[in-house]
Amino acid sequence: MSEALANLLNETRQFPPPAELAAAANVTADAYGEAEADRLAFWERQAGRLSWAKQWDQVLDWSNPPFAKWFVGGQLNVAYNCLDRHVEAGRGDKVAIHWEGEPGDTRTITYAELHELTCQAANALTDLGVVAGDRVAIYLPMVPEAAVAMLACARIGATHSVVFGGFSAESLTNRIQDASAKVVITADGGYRRGKPSALKPTVDEAVANCPSVEHVLVVRRTGEEVAWSAKDHWWHETVEVASTAHTAEAFDAEHPLFILYTSGTTARPKGILHTSGGYLTQAAYTAHAVFDLKPESDVYWCTADIGWVTGHSYIVYGPLANGVTQVMYEGTPDTPHKGRFWEIVDKYQVTILYTAPTLIRTMMKWGEDIPAGFDLSSLRLLGSVGEPINPEAWMWYRQHVGRGELPIVDTWWQTETGSMMISPLPGVTAAKPGSAMTPLPGVVADVVDDQGQSVPNGGGGYLVLREPWPSMLRTIWGDDNRFIETYWSRFGAGASGNAEDPWIYFAGDGAKKDDDGHIWLLGRVDDVMLVSGHNISTTEVESALVSHPSVAEAAVVGATDPTTGQAIVAFAIPRGTTETGGEAGEQLIAELRNHVAKTLGPIAKPRQIMLVPELPKTRSGKIMRRLLRDVAENRSLGDVTTLQDSSVMELIASGMGGGKSDED
Ligand code: WT7
Repeated sequence: MSEALANLLNETRQFPPPAELAAAANVTADAYGEAEADRLAFWERQAGRLSWAKQWDQVLDWSNPPFAKWFVGGQLNVAYNCLDRHVEAGRGDKVAIHWEGEPGDTRTITYAELHELTCQAANALTDLGVVAGDRVAIYLPMVPEAAVAMLACARIGATHSVVFGGFSAESLTNRIQDASAKVVITADGGYRRGKPSALKPTVDEAVANCPSVEHVLVVRRTGEEVAWSAKDHWWHETVEVASTAHTAEAFDAEHPLFILYTSGTTARPKGILHTSGGYLTQAAYTAHAVFDLKPESDVYWCTADIGWVTGHSYIVYGPLANGVTQVMYEGTPDTPHKGRFWEIVDKYQVTILYTAPTLIRTMMKWGEDIPAGFDLSSLRLLGSVGEPINPEAWMWYRQHVGRGELPIVDTWWQTETGSMMISPLPGVTAAKPGSAMTPLPGVVADVVDDQGQSVPNGGGGYLVLREPWPSMLRTIWGDDNRFIETYWSRFGAGASGNAEDPWIYFAGDGAKKDDDGHIWLLGRVDDVMLVSGHNISTTEVESALVSHPSVAEAAVVGATDPTTGQAIVAFAIPRGTTETGGEAGEQLIAELRNHVAKTLGPIAKPRQIMLVPELPKTRSGKIMRRLLRDVAENRSLGDVTTLQDSSVMELIASGMGGGKSDED
């Protein structure tokens, strides 16, 4: 990139924490100073919040960078920390999971019950020949058994590899093969959009090409008929009849806990490896600090799927390590009606809600009347994760979900970082809409230019992490070179080859520091546009568009342009009842182009804006820019104003896939 990212957007609103929350917050401003004074001692204290079978000898071994070892010599059992210790402390009757199936069936599972189920699953897996170090693939819908399966693996030291239930047989095959998984845990299917959606046939197809798989454990969820082979075992005939007695063995702090595949843009997926002690320390600490979890009174709900890292760290490990009560929901937000999320908040009196910007923008599009129809007064804290949340979506979330008064924690992190890295602390930070604000205590993040120099306040560039952190990925499964190449070769010692230089992790995201030094994420650097020699962030142009009252959601791409190198092409979804036909549409487009120019400067004025009813997204909610770029480049769209009925829209729609979608 020839120059650092331009710093265009200027957002000045700021919202201090509610006094009551601040007064009782789990973590206060002191944490920053404490961590800065002695970062390793700080993390050591956070590790002390867990229960260890053997104390560590050394907090961090960074003698062979970028391969870190945390809490060296320490031993613990991750599942013990999430279950047994709560039961032993007399909290066995506390609800761990309020589960809500999409059809409306429910299950209430206490910590004691979750512990028993996990012990049974651990015994069943052991009976199937799974031993510590073996890999187990998990391909399940959002049913409690997904959490049980993960915890059972953790309990016996098996490494789980959860594959999102929306992935195809081919993706599942690749992931099973890459990790040589010995067992697959799946279900007949799950419920999605009011219908049973089968999973077992996909597993059958995958397993046919995966000789490593010896057994398939099948949860019965939908009751639909499934094909059966000699490798298959019903969960209810194996796990649910197994002994509930199981003593958790302690494993090394660096024992592998899970592999989670993350897709690059085009490359084959990377198996991100996380280990035990450091991962659980940071997942548990960040859940405690950023969600301000009060196990006595909170009802927490993270709407992510367990197939993403958010589900790993903030449905399973972080919340359960903290002993909190949570809600788990199987289905989609619009089944059977568009108020389903708010109905669930109301029903379970949810106090903390953690969701994604894509969902917030969808809710915006559906209109504020929908949340207004439910009692959301139990909520006290809101969270966001997965992509930059544009200021208007942030404001809508605060206004229409948070009664205009709740704090919002915009949490930046990655599959690779394992836990949250940059986020407000809800009792401390005066948050700005759209900014992830500052690195959490114990995390050293920075924004640097091409040369790896820290940019001054007001500047933009690349987001990096300057010091190792406990829940960092340890490697890419089976490919140490790719690990070094992908994350450690852009800046620092990995780039210079000079052993004196520090090792610097490159996250792949563009970011800027505002005048107060607060961090704004600008999306993946692959998404940055180069317009007439200026680097412009897609996120900023999208935010500018969404700040117009007629726009609910926007996606921006750089399309090849003969004069400017790249030109800005925007796709915008109009809000609610906006008139988009004919002349009205043309007028709106002209207005939006001017609005962006006024907000960000003339350089950011889109060459074209297309009004669309939907945007193509991956199932984790990320906009499929590659597809939009194709649309923007391969067609001369000249005077097209609305695309609702055009073949271009069909192309966009085809990328959305009704069923299985791949991200790799
Ligand atoms: C990428 C990581 C973190 C769990 C879910 C996604 C983007 C994530 C934010 C945020 C701006 C964000 C980044 C990051 N991202 N959170 N709060 N603000 N961008 O995990 O699939 O590994 O994706 O998601 O681009 O690098 P993931």
